[in-house]
Amino acid sequence: MRKLPLSLTINGETHELLAEPHHPLLEVLRTQLGLIGTKENCLEGECGVCTVLLDGMAVNSCLLLAAQCQGRRIVTIEGLGGPETLHPLQETFVEHGAVQCGYCIPGMILAAKAYLDQNPEPTEGEIREALSGNLCRCTGYQKILDAVLAAAGVLAPMR
Ligand code: FES
Ligand code: FES
Repeated sequence: MRKLPLSLTINGETHELLAEPHHPLLEVLRTQLGLIGTKENCLEGECGVCTVLLDGMAVNSCLLLAAQCQGRRIVTIEGLGGPETLHPLQETFVEHGAVQCGYCIPGMILAAKAYLDQNPEPTEGEIREALSGNLCRCTGYQKILDAVLAAAGVLAPMR
């Protein structure tokens, strides 16, 4: 199949690449760009491990064609913070012991970021609802909720 030339803006950088028309964003991120912080699991929108931000909204990158993302602003977990510049959400996940195997965490953190950007002072119940599309097979949900609540407390005064 003929590949399409694409220009994608990811974590503030423009990437020119070729992708087949049916390639999901997830595949391009992981296999072409090496951004393996975005995880892969169900490939049908059920688990949320592939969550990235698209123009600030949390989306499942397994369901989105890469070709649909041209001209949009994509952020992956690599763009949120690094080992020396952790985002407050990354810090509170560490502080609260919210990371077990870690597989769901990039998607969980990006879903939480998108939600806190819209609702900076949520209740625990609202966070639970907002993250209901992100599954954790290690089932450490309470610590994840605690970490997001703590991050809201850090971020809200900064807005
Ligand atoms: S891999 Fe995308 S939702 Fe599960
Ligand atoms: S920490 Fe293991 S899947 Fe969530």
